[in-house]
Amino acid sequence: MPLRITDNAPLDALNTFGVSARARRLVELDDPADLPAALAALVGAPARLVLGGGSNLLLAGDFDGTVLRMRTRGRQRQPAAIGEEVSLQAGESWDEAVRWTLDQGLAGLENLAMIPGTCGAAAIQNIGAYGVELAERFAGLSAVDLDTGRQQAFTPEACRFGYRDSVFKQPGGERWLILRLRLRVGPQFAPVLSYAPLAAAFAGRSATPSAAEVATEVRRIRASRLPDPARIGNAGSFFKNPVVNAALAQALHERHPGMPMHPGGSSLSDAPVKLSAGWLIEQCGWKGHRDGDAGVHADHALVLVNHGRASGAELLRLAMAIRASVHERFGLWLEPEPRIVGGS
Ligand code: FAD
Ligand code: EPU
Repeated sequence: MPLRITDNAPLDALNTFGVSARARRLVELDDPADLPAALAALVGAPARLVLGGGSNLLLAGDFDGTVLRMRTRGRQRQPAAIGEEVSLQAGESWDEAVRWTLDQGLAGLENLAMIPGTCGAAAIQNIGAYGVELAERFAGLSAVDLDTGRQQAFTPEACRFGYRDSVFKQPGGERWLILRLRLRVGPQFAPVLSYAPLAAAFAGRSATPSAAEVATEVRRIRASRLPDPARIGNAGSFFKNPVVNAALAQALHERHPGMPMHPGGSSLSDAPVKLSAGWLIEQCGWKGHRDGDAGVHADHALVLVNHGRASGAELLRLAMAIRASVHERFGLWLEPEPRIVGGS
């Protein structure tokens, strides 16, 4: 499909919160060969936003600029120095890519099954779930500098991955449009069952579960805990889990002995203790709270939901009220996970 350009485009169906918003211009890139035309369409835009599946995004208002929606498809297997790699175009669905690898007997991505969104965006916040982060499977990516049109290869080190973090989230990082990524996968399989509910599901089994079985279990756990955006608008966890140093963790534990604490902020981070934002929010009485159509999920306090016609501004107001109350009670500022754009 050639490059498609729409002025005054509705974004309602392009964000999983399902909030109503418009972009001054929407450019949709399906074919990697049309990249030069897409880059040309961004020149002179008052502002620009790269969009994948819109599952980690809060549109707090209309976007007065050009949105570039990445829909490029393509996936390939290729031999690597150790094992194999898969190369995935940025617009590929992440979950379909995970299924594709598993169907071919390639393991490595099973713990990350069922995360919504695109492959390109997976690198932005180093997606993670059930004991694995993208960084642990990552071999490299190609990106283009939207300011200069220059393409660049990024090594794992250059991406500076951390817990829900990368160089692309740092100041200046938004000028990079991720085009494709390479991930390490392989037929050899060592299951990662460090996440307690996953380990519990396989406890008592003598045989090692297969990668496909791990993925099935991950899907079951996810479906039981996280609301389906097709049924109720949401963007997954709205805040990151706070990562604090050992001294602060100790002080918090003395004041709040029931507070859950997990050692190790990230497989890649030195920070020692990760707290549960969901617990902090629930303690402040927000679980199941509803303000018009903007609400906090009744089964998971870390997930903000759109019950129907909430605006992005209303959801943002609720998020900021939650953040203030957690700060007042625990002295911690929660950091939003989704990108917040638009509005005044
Ligand atoms: P978008 O929301 O479209 O964009 C997110 C950010 O990435 C924006 O800043 C955007 O500008 C940028 N971006 C997108 N594509 C590109 C590109 N090609 N180049 C440059 N920048 C780009 N996340 C987890 O880590 N773990 C989870 O377990 C998890 N569970 C979720 C469950 C639910 C129900 C939902 C709704 C979300 C969940 N998420 C989770 C969050 C989300 O799915 C991921 O962050 C996902 O990677 C976002 O992909 P997307 O294509 O929808 O990105
Ligand atoms: N908790 C509560 N009340 C709640 C929810 C959670 O007290 O309402 C406490 C419980 O103690 C629970 C703990 O928080 O054991 C952790 O909850 P959960 O296992 O659901 O994980 P999470 O920390 O809320 C994180 C990621 C998810 C990821 C899961 C599984 C972040 C911000 N979120 O959630 O990622 O799927 O672990 O690995 O790190 C996302 O990023 O959008 C996302 C969904």
